[in-house]
Amino acid sequence: MNCTDVIILAAGKGSRMQSSLPKVLHLLAGRPLLEHVLTASNKVANARSILVTGHGADEVESVCAHDAYVAVRQIEQLGTANAVQAALPHLREHSKVVILYADVPLIHPNTICRMLEAVDGEQISLLTLDMAEPSGYGRIVRNSNGVIEAIVEHRDASPSQRGICEINTGVMALGAEQLKAWLPEIDNRNVQNEYYLTDLISIARKHNYHVKSIQPATANEVQGVNDRIQLSRLERAYQLQLAHALMLSGTTLADPARFDQRGELSAGIDNYIDINCVFTGAVTLGSGVTIGANCMITDSSIADGAVIATNSVIESAQVGAGCSVGPFARLRPGTILGAGAKVGNFVETKKVRVGAGSKINHLSYIGDADLGDNVNIGAGTITCNYDGANKHATRLGDDVFIGSNSTLVAPVHVGDRGFVAAGTTLTCDVLDAELAVGRARQRNIADWRRPVKKED
Ligand code: UD1
Ligand code: CA
Repeated sequence: MNCTDVIILAAGKGSRMQSSLPKVLHLLAGRPLLEHVLTASNKVANARSILVTGHGADEVESVCAHDAYVAVRQIEQLGTANAVQAALPHLREHSKVVILYADVPLIHPNTICRMLEAVDGEQISLLTLDMAEPSGYGRIVRNSNGVIEAIVEHRDASPSQRGICEINTGVMALGAEQLKAWLPEIDNRNVQNEYYLTDLISIARKHNYHVKSIQPATANEVQGVNDRIQLSRLERAYQLQLAHALMLSGTTLADPARFDQRGELSAGIDNYIDINCVFTGAVTLGSGVTIGANCMITDSSIADGAVIATNSVIESAQVGAGCSVGPFARLRPGTILGAGAKVGNFVETKKVRVGAGSKINHLSYIGDADLGDNVNIGAGTITCNYDGANKHATRLGDDVFIGSNSTLVAPVHVGDRGFVAAGTTLTCDVLDAELAVGRARQRNIADWRRPVKKED
């Protein structure tokens, strides 16, 4: 028995979610519940994951297609034991089997390994936990010697059994041969008329097997998600866990209860993150980075010493060392800011390279553009990158100055040290060091008489 088959049950409808989306596809920290379980399962040595789908099977299998697993279908959702039945043909001979529930997302690979180690000879293992509020969970029934005898589902439990605080997490491990032999003994004589996998415990006892209980390292690992309240609680608990890990690695959080990480966040040391920031996808922070309150940062990297001021939105962008962004800046995909660049309030950028030390400080849209070093873009400057059919590029050399309220009609190029006067509508290229003035000449009319309001 040196190989492991992990059966993951994901066929249930999840009625208590009140959702058209299958329960196991609801997101925890930005990833489907099921994906968390598959990731843990695939970390177990010599393990193969067998995913049992049923309700919304096509959708479930397509969302999690990138993870390696064998998919099997449970035709009708007749209960957890019936779901396991569907996986039996795929078990390898004499493997150890561990059964996980896709709605218990935070199970840790180490816990799965401890469960597997406890399967030995005539012993199987069951993951249990003492819970202050065990309502809804299956309860662990022990005899007077403390030996586990059975699991009784909450709905089937007597009032005294409901007083038991030790709960079934749903995770059990046993030999493939035992599972195959015992599963047919399970019937559906219970309140829900379902085939309960939990009945396997009393059957194991009948065959004189010992049930060893294993406890998880943390309670979060075994919290199930059956409704949206439980989902929100687990989200906060998990976020706190991620926040603690980040703080212990050298980042200060203004408030770990108001921090959200929905993907991979890697960070150096001495970063400061203010409240209500959301990090999505793959985000990398250097060291000494400051992020103001209410920032949304997605799939981006932010280099050492950069300051992202409050209410900035950054997506698929690279922010160089010592840059200053925001408040209220929006860096859209393809924005690359060189070292020390500044992007100020109400500025939107897209597919743009901004050279070192360049500034776009106020109220601008700069898209499909390449800016050299030390460029200054005046307030209200717009790149007209779209002609209604195609996108065109704007190229500005080093040390270019664009006066306020200019419109740069692409394709257009300004050479090094080029100077564009305020209010210019730039339609022709500007050579190195040239001044372009592209606005109507001002006329002043002396003794101007203002219009007078007519009497009615
Ligand atoms: C189950 C356990 C309960 C335990 C709890 C832990 C049973 C009978 N009860 O209850 O002892 O305390 O989990 O979270 O096992 N599923 C299928 N096919 C089905 C039915 C369910 O694949 O026909 C899957 C679901 O998608 C889910 C998992 O099995 O991932 C558990 O089903 P659920 O209905 O949520 O069981 P609980 O009532 O939570
Ligand atoms: Ca459940």
